[in-house]
Amino acid sequence: MTDGKLLKTLAGVRFPTPPIWLMRQAGRYLPEYRAVRATTKSFLEFCYTPDKATEVTLQPIKRFGLDAAIIFSDILVIPDALGQRTWFEEGEGPKLQPLTDPAEFGQLSRARLPEHLAPVYQAIRNARAALAAETALLGFAGAPFTLACYMTEGGGSRDFHKVKHWAYSHPDSFGLLIDLLVEAVVDHLGHQVEAGADAVQIFDSWAGILPESQLFRWSLEPMTRIASQLRERHPGTPVIAFPRAVGPAALMYRRPEEFAALSIDTGIGAHWAARELQPHIVVQGNLDPMMLVTGGAALEEEATRILDKLGHGSFVFNLGHGVVPQTPPDHVARLVEIVRNWKPGAS
Ligand code: CP3
Repeated sequence: MTDGKLLKTLAGVRFPTPPIWLMRQAGRYLPEYRAVRATTKSFLEFCYTPDKATEVTLQPIKRFGLDAAIIFSDILVIPDALGQRTWFEEGEGPKLQPLTDPAEFGQLSRARLPEHLAPVYQAIRNARAALAAETALLGFAGAPFTLACYMTEGGGSRDFHKVKHWAYSHPDSFGLLIDLLVEAVVDHLGHQVEAGADAVQIFDSWAGILPESQLFRWSLEPMTRIASQLRERHPGTPVIAFPRAVGPAALMYRRPEEFAALSIDTGIGAHWAARELQPHIVVQGNLDPMMLVTGGAALEEEATRILDKLGHGSFVFNLGHGVVPQTPPDHVARLVEIVRNWKPGAS
């Protein structure tokens, strides 16, 4: 357990400068990650090797002194644990044996999940033991809709039209898949908290492909169900919601009774978020990951602009999406300096 800056911020305490961590802070942009990654061919096998997952979880903390570590894993360990064939193709990203017939998901089962994902929980125990008390350890999972996107399509897609067609044409059977995923995500997050995760983030990376009329049913409602079931099992564990690219519908997710923070993507204006979201809920975000690639004056100006807008309220500095592989690590170090040296009220 930690009582550091991130957890206190999620509990409403204000500091002169916000805590900072970055989505995908452990990854291919770090040479020390690539070195450990090169020792295992299969990405999932790498995720399921506790010593390696622990090591790469700690790498960005050692290098940059961030306020939180996020356990190194992937959202697609859930379909894998449910029994859907899941693998990662070198240079192509995730592949899954697609669910084409609703009858197929009847074969998916939660029974194997705790055993299958035990290496993830072991990595969390190792990482929590190795981290300083003031550094938070985050667990995470994909939201049911985003998981359903990959599970239906069989991998990445530009528009995930198959999942939408299923949801619109057979909402009752699609709802059964979402219900199964809600239970699997609650199990997985619960085990992560039991292993030592101090807070959790739910990634709904593809929420933004849904029209507003469908967002409540397929994105927000399952996420709130997860948050409330997790709260029953583990009262007080903060849940950060990341419904990516939902635009002004972010207002629907402004639910402090369910979520400790709302993580916003780059498309949401910091000024709008300060006015519409921050009076109600802790905001996390939302620097464009490409600013971290560019660096220099552009990074300085944009990070300071976000701090000037959001740094006066309850705020966790982060990106609007994950760190990309072409990011120079020195730019991350510089960003941490900018955030830690920011002077409230200077502009
Ligand atoms: O540092 C961290 O943030 C923790 C680790 C983490 C990974 N994936 C490691 C990873 C986290 C939080 C994720 C989440 C994830 N995975 C999401 C949600 C966030 C988002 O990006 O929208 C999604 C959609 C996935 C699915 C996924 N995993 C894809 C599409 C890919 C391929 C694209 C890519 O970036 O390569 C992955 C692979 C993956 N997951 C890598 C890493 C570091 C790269 C693979 C490798 O190192 O060989």
